[in-house]
Amino acid sequence: MQKIILIGAPGSGKGTQGELLASRLGFKKISTGDLLREEIKNKSEMGLKVKAIIDRGDLVPDDIMEGLLKSALTAHNGARLYFDGYPRNLEQAACLDKVLGAEGVSGVFYLKIEDEVLISRLSGRRVCSECQRIYHVSTDKPRMAGKCDDCGVALMQRPDDREESVKHRLQVYARETAPVLEHYDAKKLLHTIQADDKKENVYSALEKLVRK
Ligand code: AP5
Ligand code: MG
Repeated sequence: MQKIILIGAPGSGKGTQGELLASRLGFKKISTGDLLREEIKNKSEMGLKVKAIIDRGDLVPDDIMEGLLKSALTAHNGARLYFDGYPRNLEQAACLDKVLGAEGVSGVFYLKIEDEVLISRLSGRRVCSECQRIYHVSTDKPRMAGKCDDCGVALMQRPDDREESVKHRLQVYARETAPVLEHYDAKKLLHTIQADDKKENVYSALEKLVRK
C-alpha cells in the first residue's frame, strides 16, 4: 500500500494538503504534531512531558517519537497513508526506513515556499480545538466566525504560532529537517511542489504526482 511523506517548513501546507488527500483519495493520516497535541489535550504523561518543548518550537526526543510512530502504524495497519511531520531529522528517516522494512516509503512530496509567506500563514492560522481542522483568518475562513464547520466547536490559535516560537521553528527546520530532503533525493523519491499558490492549485500538482 502507498505510504507517502508530506514534508516542508512550518506553515508550508502539509496539514491543509493532507486533509485533501484524506477526503478525496481516502488516505489515512499520521500527523505526529496532531498526535502530540492530542496527548497534551488529554494531559497524558507524554503530553505533560512534551508541552513545553512544543510550545517553544523544539523537537520532541526521537525515542518518544519512535513509540508514537509505531503505535500509529499499528492503528493504520495496511492502509494507504501519508506522514505529516515525520521524519523530521536524519535519525527519524533511518528509523522510518527500518520500521517500514522492504515495502518502504513510496514517495516524498516537498512543499517548497519562502519564509516570508510562512509568517503570515502561521499568524493567521486557527485550528479546531476538537478535530484539529485547519483554517486561516483571511484565506480559509469558517462559515461561522470562530467556529469549526465540521463540529461547531471554537477555533483556537496554536501556542507555538506565537512569533518567537515561529522564528525558532523555522531555524530548527533549516538545521534538522532540510537534510532529510537530501536523504530522499538520493533515493530518487523526492518530488518538489511549489507551495506558494492557491490551495487547490497546490493540491492539483500534488495529486498528479501521487497518482503517477
Ligand atoms: P507540526 O504540527 O508538524 O507543525 P509544523 O511542521 O511546524 O507544521 P505546521 O503544522 O505549523 O504547518 P503545516 O505545514 O501543517 O501548515 P498548515 O497546512 O497548517 O509540529 C508541531 C511541533 O510538534 C513541532 O515543532 C515539534 O515540537 C513537535 N513534533 C511534531 N512532529 C515531530 C517529530 N517527528 N519529531 C519531533 N518533534 C515533533 O497551513 C498553515 C496555515 O496556512 C493555515 O492557516 C492554512 O489555512 C494556510 N494555508 C495552507 N495552504 C495555503 C495556501 N495554499 N494558500 C494560503 N494559505 C494557506
Ligand atoms: Mg501541520
